[in-house]
Amino acid sequence: MGTREVIEKGKYAHHTIKEIHEQSLTLLKPFQEFNDFQNFCEFMRNASNVYITGSGTSYNCGLLGKQLLSRFAKIKTEVIMSSEFQYYSDSLEPNSVVIAISQSGETADVLHSVKKAKENGAKILSIVNVPTSSLARMSDSILTLNCGPEIGVAATKSFMGQLMIVYKIVNILSSGQMPFDDFNQRDLLMMVKKVLSSDGIIQNLVSSLDTNIKDIYILGRSIHYPIALEGSLKIKELAYIHAEGIAAGELKHGPLALIDKESVVVVLNPIDETYQDVISSSNEIKSRGAHIIGISNKKNEVYDRFVELPDVDSYLYPILEIIPLQLMSYYLALKKQVDPDYPRNLAKSVTVK
Ligand code: M6R
Repeated sequence: MGTREVIEKGKYAHHTIKEIHEQSLTLLKPFQEFNDFQNFCEFMRNASNVYITGSGTSYNCGLLGKQLLSRFAKIKTEVIMSSEFQYYSDSLEPNSVVIAISQSGETADVLHSVKKAKENGAKILSIVNVPTSSLARMSDSILTLNCGPEIGVAATKSFMGQLMIVYKIVNILSSGQMPFDDFNQRDLLMMVKKVLSSDGIIQNLVSSLDTNIKDIYILGRSIHYPIALEGSLKIKELAYIHAEGIAAGELKHGPLALIDKESVVVVLNPIDETYQDVISSSNEIKSRGAHIIGISNKKNEVYDRFVELPDVDSYLYPILEIIPLQLMSYYLALKKQVDPDYPRNLAKSVTVK
C-alpha cells in the first residue's frame, strides 16, 4: 500500500468506510451558490413530461425522487433505468425533460439514453458529481453533488448527495409543502451524525450474524422501498451475498415462499403511514422462523435485533435509514474477508455498454 493511499484514507481502513463517515461533511455540499436550483426547476415546470434516468444507485435515487415529486409536488414522472431507456425513447413526447442522475457523468448507458432523448427533442437536466463530465456537457442545466472524489466502487456519499438534491428540488416544486430549508438541513445533519455514530452497534450486529448467510431480504414500503433496493445493491456488491429489496406489500405475491429460518430480513420501518402494514409483514415473516432486524425509531417485539433511528419528519427517513445499510454492507464484506473498496467484477465507472 502506497503512502498516498494511507494518507487519503486517514484513520480508516478502507475508502468505503471513510466515505460513509464523510457523509456528515458532504451532506450540505450541494447547497452552494453555483448550483442554480431555480433554473433547474424552471425547466421542470415548463415541461409537459418529466423522465428520470440513471443506473444502479443513481437509478434508486430516481425512484425516491418519483415518489417525493408525486406526493409533495403532484408532479408525475417516469423513471427508466438507463440500460432500458433506448427501448422507450421512441415514445418520448415533445417538450419533455429527462433528468439524468450519474455520479461520474460517464456511464455509457446514461450517455446513450441522453443522446436518444436529445434526438427526440428533450431537454436534459443532470445531477452529477463531476461538473466537467460528458453528461454535464450534454445538459441544459446541471446540479452538482460537490461531495469530492468517491474512490470506493460502491456509491455511498454520492447517493447521499443525490438525495439531498432531490429533496431540494421537491421542496422548491412543492412550494414548500415539503419543508427543507436551512433549519431542516442543519437538524438533519445532526441526525445523520447521530446515525453514523451507531457504527459500533452495526459492527456488533454483523459479527453476531451467521458467517454463511445466503440471502438477505430488505423490506420497505413507499419511500422506504427505493432504500430497500439501494441497501440490497450495497450488500450484493460489497459482501457478495444475495440480497433483495422487496416492497413489503408484495411479500404474499411471491417472495414469502423464500422465507424460512435461514433467512435474514431487514425491515425499514420508521413511524409513518406504512408502519402497521410493515409490522404485519414482519409477523408473517417471523412465523416462518426468519431473523428480523428492525430499523426504526420505534422498537417492536417482532424484531430480533433493533437499530434505532432518531426522530425526524417522516419524509426524511430515507436519508437516515440508508446509513445502517451502508455500514452493514461494509462490515459484512469484512466478515467475508473481501475487499470492500474494489468488489470483484465491477468498475467504478461503467463506460462501456
Ligand atoms: O456514475 P454513475 O452514478 O452513473 O454510476 C451508476 C452505477 O454504475 C453505480 O451507481 C453502481 O451501481 C454503483 N457501484 C453502486 O454502488
